Amino acid sequence: MNTLELKSAYEAAYHKSATAIYFAPGRVNLIGEHTDYNGGFVFPCALSFGTYLLVAPNDEQKINFRSLNVEAVYSLELSQLTTPLPDKAWANYPIGVFAQFIKRGVVIEQGYDILFWGNVPAGAGLSSSAAMEVVTAYALNELLGTGFDRTELAKIGQKAEHEYAGVMCGIMDQFASSHGKQDHAIYLNCDTLAFDLVPVKLEGIKVVVSNTHSPHHLDSGAYNDRVRQCRLAVEQLAALRPIKYLAELSQADFEQVEHAITDEVAHRRARHVVGEVQRTKDAVEALQQGDIEQFGVLMNQSHISLRDDYEVTGPELDALAEAAWKVEGVLGSRMTGGGFGGCTVSLVREEAIPTFIEQVGKEYTEKTGLKADFYIAEIGNGAHRVE
Ligand code: GLA
Repeated sequence: MNTLELKSAYEAAYHKSATAIYFAPGRVNLIGEHTDYNGGFVFPCALSFGTYLLVAPNDEQKINFRSLNVEAVYSLELSQLTTPLPDKAWANYPIGVFAQFIKRGVVIEQGYDILFWGNVPAGAGLSSSAAMEVVTAYALNELLGTGFDRTELAKIGQKAEHEYAGVMCGIMDQFASSHGKQDHAIYLNCDTLAFDLVPVKLEGIKVVVSNTHSPHHLDSGAYNDRVRQCRLAVEQLAALRPIKYLAELSQADFEQVEHAITDEVAHRRARHVVGEVQRTKDAVEALQQGDIEQFGVLMNQSHISLRDDYEVTGPELDALAEAAWKVEGVLGSRMTGGGFGGCTVSLVREEAIPTFIEQVGKEYTEKTGLKADFYIAEIGNGAHRVE
């Protein structure tokens, strides 16, 4: 939908015009997976698709939430913004953001009529929920004149996810949605939140996102289990090395102390995290030196570690990655995001893209009975006002 269509959809829903339109993007992570809540590095970029929010004030002292993607409509009194709705209501994402503003001492005295529309493929692990949280935070920050910076808006989105969706996620998705920059990836230290924007304009190479359309998604249970297993590893290391996060250990440090992690599962999770942090640093260095081949090799290693040690890939993501590795002109391919279902990200030479889509699509369907979808990613900007 373009802006004009969105505006008339708003008029049809609320019988008045929107006074502002905001946008926040989804993201694709190039490397650095399941490192964010372990204090490590990530390397995501914002996509050109995301979530739009149209808004106008009302005189009702109510916040009305509608979405063009889902039917359920919610209308809340200003006093109801600090309690999650039951039954996994979609409006918990924006309500969770309102609640975070209120927690920060912001007084909301005005009602608003809000309409969302998102074009991030649903359930694809490309952070449609982060886009909804960040667009809400960005809009509220402007409407209420609260003056939070982009990092604070990302933290607000992350807390909304923890408290209103029950996923104990790291900061990567909301940070990318908030800070993204066209044709750049964000090299983020998730401990300090210091970051560099690294240009990703690759001569003759495209970032291809392949969607498994798999019915298995990383539910909050499997995700939160990984978070707990990493904490257990930190606890078991405490006697030898008192650290806050696994990412504080270099590969060499880890080899000296890993025997202290007696829980076999936690040990493998920790091995992934330490290796992935190193791979992310190496990958960014390779990219900066123009060694895109090496970047691709590290992407493949990342997938293998996520498959064998972190166990978040599953047959569909493995089928897509393994099919991609065989295609000439593919520099690297790996799962991206939380895992299980969702997408892979691949670096593919432009001339190889038609063969890539054909061969990977065919092999994927043969192995899984499902049909994959392919998008050439455009790296877009972070949250902003459209109009
Ligand atoms: C999900 C979470 C992120 C991050 C990734 C895995 O997308 O929301 O915080 O942990 O999984 O890297």
